[in-house]
Amino acid sequence: MPSGAERARLVREMFDRIAGRYELLNTVMTAGLHRLWNRKVVRATGLRPGDRALDLACGTGSLTRDLAKAVGPGGRVLGIDFSREMLRAAEARPLPNVEYRLGDATDLTGVPSDAFDAATIAYGARNIPDLDALFSEMARCVRPGGTVVCLEIATPTNRVAAAFYGLWFDRIVPRVGAWISGDARAYAYLPESVKEFVPPGELAEIMVRNGLQNVAWHRLAGGIITLHRGTGRSGGP
Ligand SMILES: C[S@@+](CC[C@H](N)C(=O)[O-])C[C@H]1O[C@@H](n2cnc3c(N)ncnc32)[C@H](O)[C@@H]1O
Repeated sequence: MPSGAERARLVREMFDRIAGRYELLNTVMTAGLHRLWNRKVVRATGLRPGDRALDLACGTGSLTRDLAKAVGPGGRVLGIDFSREMLRAAEARPLPNVEYRLGDATDLTGVPSDAFDAATIAYGARNIPDLDALFSEMARCVRPGGTVVCLEIATPTNRVAAAFYGLWFDRIVPRVGAWISGDARAYAYLPESVKEFVPPGELAEIMVRNGLQNVAWHRLAGGIITLHRGTGRSGGP
C-alpha cells in the first residue's frame, strides 16, 4: 500500500466501493460483536444526555447512532468521513440529533476547538497515515477534561487468539469479504492494514504527544480489539 495522499485516495475509493455492503459485512465478520464493542466505546466516552460528540471516520454511522442514543434528543453528534458513499449510507438512516459532514479527520478546518464532550474513532485510525494530525485534531476539538476514544483491530498476543485470528482474518475474511462485497482488494487490504498498524503502546504515546492526558488502553475480545482512551488537556498549554 502506498503512503501519504495516494494511500488516502485509495482508501477513500475503496470505502466508496464497498459502502453498500459495509454494515452487512461487519456483522458477518464480527459475528455481531461490533455492536457490543460500540457499546464499550460509548461507555468509555462517559457521554451523558445533552452532551456533544464528534465521531471521526464515522462511515455508515454505526457508532454515530449509538453515540446519538447516549446524548439523547438534547445532545448533538457530528459524524465526519471522507467517503461520500459511506456518508450517503449513513444519511439514509437520519436522526434528529446527528449531522454528517464530508471531511478529512486529519484536517478538521471549520470544526470549533474545545466544542465536544467526547471525540471517537472506530476502525478508522488504521486507515490514516498521519496519526499525529488525527490525534492533535481530536485533542483540539474536545473540551478540557473531555474524552477521546479510539477503537481498533489489533494483532492478538495470546497464542490461542492469534491462531484463531490467523485463520479468520488472513484466510476467511478476505474470501468472504470478496464474495459479499465483490471487491477482493478491499478485503485483502483489511488484514494487511492491521499488520501495518502501530502497536497499542505506540498508539498511546502518539495520543500523549498530541496533547491528551490520562491515556490508557486495554484489549477486548482476546486481544483482537484495542480500546484507547484519553482526556483533553485541562488548564493552559
Ligand atoms: C472501517 S470504516 C469504519 C466506519 C465506522 N467508524 C464504523 O465503526 O463502522 C473506516 C472509515 O474511515 C474512513 N476514513 C479513512 N480515512 C479517513 C480520513 N482521513 N478522514 C475521514 N474518514 C476517513 C473511511 O472512509 C471509512 O468510512
